[in-house]
Amino acid sequence: MIQTLNVALGERSYPIHIGCGILSDAGLITPHLKQKKVVVVTNTTVAPLYLAALQGALEQAGVAALPVILPDGEQYKTWETLNQIFDALLGSHSERGTTLIALGGGVIGDMGGFAAACYQRGMPFIQMPTTLLSQVDSSVGGKTAINHPLGKNMIGAFYQPRLVVADLSTLDTLPDRELKAGMAEVIKYGLIRDPEFFSWLEANVDRLMGRDKTALAYAVARSCANKAEVVAADERESGERALLNLGHTFGHAIETGLGYGEWLHGEAVAAGTLIAAELSLRLGWLDDKALQRVEGIFARVGLPVTGPRLGVACYLELMSHDKKVVDGKLRLVLLQSIGRAVVSEAASDQLIGAAIEARCT
Ligand code: NAD
Ligand code: GLY
Repeated sequence: MIQTLNVALGERSYPIHIGCGILSDAGLITPHLKQKKVVVVTNTTVAPLYLAALQGALEQAGVAALPVILPDGEQYKTWETLNQIFDALLGSHSERGTTLIALGGGVIGDMGGFAAACYQRGMPFIQMPTTLLSQVDSSVGGKTAINHPLGKNMIGAFYQPRLVVADLSTLDTLPDRELKAGMAEVIKYGLIRDPEFFSWLEANVDRLMGRDKTALAYAVARSCANKAEVVAADERESGERALLNLGHTFGHAIETGLGYGEWLHGEAVAAGTLIAAELSLRLGWLDDKALQRVEGIFARVGLPVTGPRLGVACYLELMSHDKKVVDGKLRLVLLQSIGRAVVSEAASDQLIGAAIEARCT
């Protein structure tokens, strides 16, 4: 069964298809192509697993599919790797009507999307996410980027895909550590705006970690529904969309501070969410019981509930590059309760430092 959701953005609206075995259903893709030619951007891990199935299905449908196989890892989300995509696009005489398909996790999706936004000032783009994290978050909403040594995802563009195809069967080959990391972004939706989903997650976390397909299908679809609603209301993050960054300001500091790829994005977001929850408690917004529920669900998944000890000054310096900084003032996503988040300037550096001290070991 295929579930289909819609990201409502006027003439740039697009469907998200979620189902098992749909990667090789070329009929989902061909109606969105302008030309019978696509470039498939993927990496050295995903290519041996899924490229042949996708390429074969497209070729059977009369579509030429040129692969671009990049090195795997967050540390390769750089200008140099991006240039490899441009080299392949130019080398293959790709045109403005050629579609770029990103086949892989969030790193491939973010880089493929940014390349598509830039090539000839914009070529059509399709997301085929193959990690839990990319199926529930990064493939939807049009944020694309590469990293800079001074800050994560600092160079990028808003550029929406034409289509998202999330094949749940690809999660069968995902390492456990990556499945856990994806759960950080799933839990996020419960925490920021969907308390019922948070309770469902508490009741079903073992099924999800056991890769029960029915539970995964529900969690992916509910996450995408939440994300699609937020993006439709605030595409370019002038308000509500910032809430999707719960835990990310601290998390990005952890990723940049330790060196990209040391901690997975979802692991850093999990620890960052606990620091944000600790700060919310210290502001008198979240009570002890709620903080324990937040810690409890991340611990049950097997995600970190404390951050690395980089030092408060180092965290604050790294966090000063956050995209939510306005006029030099850091704004953080904090929790008023489970299911209700706000963007706030209420916390002083001293209080932020105390929460970091308490939550980083
Ligand atoms: P990732 O892309 O690095 O993928 C994780 C690992 O799993 C990689 O080694 C990858 O090759 C491998 N892999 C992918 N699919 C597989 C499969 N089916 N079977 C086996 N291995 C597979 O990491 P991720 O967690 O998917 O994404 C993290 C990235 O997403 C970060 O760079 C983060 O900044 C970005 N992100 C972007 C947004 C957005 O809105 N654009 C949102 C959240 C995160
Ligand atoms: N992951 C944050 C966003 O898409 O806005």
